[in-house]
Amino acid sequence: MAFAPGRVNLIGEHVDYCGLPVLPAALSHGVALAFAARRDERVRCLTTEAGFDEVDFTLGQTPPAAGFGRYLAAAVAGVGAGRWTPASRAGLDGAIASDLPVAAGLSSSSAVVIAGALALLALRGRLTPGESLPREDAMRLAHDLAEAEHGVAIQGGAMDQSVCLGAAPGHALHIAFEPARWTPVPVDSGRFRFLAAYSGRRADKGGAAGAIFDERVRQAREALRVAREFLPHADSYPALVTAHPLPELLAAADGLPAPLAGRFRHVVSEAGRTSAAAKHLEDGDATAFGETLDASHESLRRDYAVSTPDLDELVRAARDAGALGARLTGAGLGGSAVILASPDREAAIRARLTERYYLPRGIAAPRGTHLLDATPSGPAALY
Ligand code: GLA
Repeated sequence: MAFAPGRVNLIGEHVDYCGLPVLPAALSHGVALAFAARRDERVRCLTTEAGFDEVDFTLGQTPPAAGFGRYLAAAVAGVGAGRWTPASRAGLDGAIASDLPVAAGLSSSSAVVIAGALALLALRGRLTPGESLPREDAMRLAHDLAEAEHGVAIQGGAMDQSVCLGAAPGHALHIAFEPARWTPVPVDSGRFRFLAAYSGRRADKGGAAGAIFDERVRQAREALRVAREFLPHADSYPALVTAHPLPELLAAADGLPAPLAGRFRHVVSEAGRTSAAAKHLEDGDATAFGETLDASHESLRRDYAVSTPDLDELVRAARDAGALGARLTGAGLGGSAVILASPDREAAIRARLTERYYLPRGIAAPRGTHLLDATPSGPAALY
């Protein structure tokens, strides 16, 4: 069996595809894939999740374009390039059970990709239960699977795949992309308690949310291209934020046309907030960390335009209940919020949100809302 966790991004939102660092953590919730080898070239898989048909496709033929089958197809493409496995064409029989809400911004789709990839590596003799990939290999695999996911879904970065493969229990993972570097940052549970609350509004990658996501990726690139005309060192966002102090970049944003000005302002300011937040986490300063969460939400709402009324209401409810900070997490456009509580307020915040309608997973709740414990957990593994 392969298990791959979902993730909650603490901060660094909509910047991974700009090459800028992010700070997510793995959840204890995730996707479990039980699997067995087949002698032929078929991939067949069921899921306990309601509303999803059985997946059935043959390796080397046109893979499914919709449903969770496309994520298994991405796993096949990601590990099948020859670098990871011998050119074996044996398929698999699989069954998936997940305790992550689907399309909730908690990366259930990348979890399917990673679980599928670990299953294929196991069946092709590259990985055995209990064994983990060397760090270099895990980094390479995260990158290859992110690329493969581009072929079937949105044009995101490699945050989700990286934290799923690289997480450490009790730690957030600081992920830098240029150059690639994973640094676990301890989360002191005596000061930081994270919760993830699903707003109940799906962020469907195959639908409108996916189209808006890809538009944001294009706009962030276009903003950089225009900025290059009047700003030195603008070959990439990492080069830009290294070369210029933030006030200078914010002033430069004013020289861009709308909506590119806002997109640019969000990306460069989020880079500053992410490095500040990583420092606050290391220093154990939960109050300051909470403030960066609030500022990030405001920037995503106003400048990047990826919040929704449900997410704004959820974030407000968490703060009213005494959270140190809260913001949308993941792509937004529906989905979930990450909430930071101090240990002494955690029970009260849980109680208030639960009362308002965010019920624990497993209990029927209006619109499928959930409140999940987001204590940082370990990486994907084979059992
Ligand atoms: C999605 C993508 C990630 C990242 C986030 C936004 O989860 O898959 O790569 O871009 O959105 O931060």
